[in-house]
Amino acid sequence: MTDTMIGVIGGSGIYEIAGLSGAEWVSVATPWGAPSDQLLTGTLDGVKMAFLPRHGRGHVHAPATVPYRANIDALKRLGVTDVVSVSACGSFRDEMAPGDFVVVDQFIDRTIAREKSFFGTGCVAHVSVAHPTCPRLSDACETAARDGGINVHRGGTYLAMEGPQFSTLAESRMYREAWGADVIGMTNMPEAKLAREAELCYASVAMITDYDSWHPDHGEVDVTQIIATLMGNAEKGRDLVSRLPALLGAGRAPCPHGCDRALEYAILTAPD
Ligand code: ADE
Repeated sequence: MTDTMIGVIGGSGIYEIAGLSGAEWVSVATPWGAPSDQLLTGTLDGVKMAFLPRHGRGHVHAPATVPYRANIDALKRLGVTDVVSVSACGSFRDEMAPGDFVVVDQFIDRTIAREKSFFGTGCVAHVSVAHPTCPRLSDACETAARDGGINVHRGGTYLAMEGPQFSTLAESRMYREAWGADVIGMTNMPEAKLAREAELCYASVAMITDYDSWHPDHGEVDVTQIIATLMGNAEKGRDLVSRLPALLGAGRAPCPHGCDRALEYAILTAPD
């Protein structure tokens, strides 16, 4: 058994974890530059936690300029074993309504201008991301949401778009009808891919704020609408996070799905 350490990457509206004991904001330097912000460390229910505001306190990083590699590396350096990503998203499904949460399990990566790998020159590796989220960690997120009375959907495909503009109506329809995406956001990629390269369990809780632009009854998405829903969502998101330590426990066996051994058969470069 090793120690569990839960790393929470909080999106728009979530900028801290309440009730942490020994809470301290710490700076972590990485070879990939500075993370989005300092990380808030401490313990909750006897379990080590680290929290990182994805956009920085004060929301200073746009989705495309979030330092994704530094963020994942900083969490790894602190000893994080399990990364829970919390973010806002739009919905492509009538039944996935604003205010609901989706524990997503698949991604379509449409981001184009972001550094997506820790590997490249000097060391070449190709990890599998066929199953990009950890079912064990996703179970805990689903249970935490249900226990908190949140309307949660288990499983769904998250389309990661580049942004910062929202989708056109034609794109929104295409993602929904032809591509089968369930929700859309701007931040889960390359975060999920990098977590896998760093051999970290990763689960994503997508908090629905809007119906994007496809829905005939809801018009187009705008930031005012997103912020209004986000306020309620953020409260629920914080409640979900506070339930995770008790569900995951302070000690941890190797991941039954192999997330923590993702590089075992992935590296092509011969050792020196
Ligand atoms: N984040 C919240 N709502 C979104 C939407 N409709 N598209 C992209 N990102 C979002």
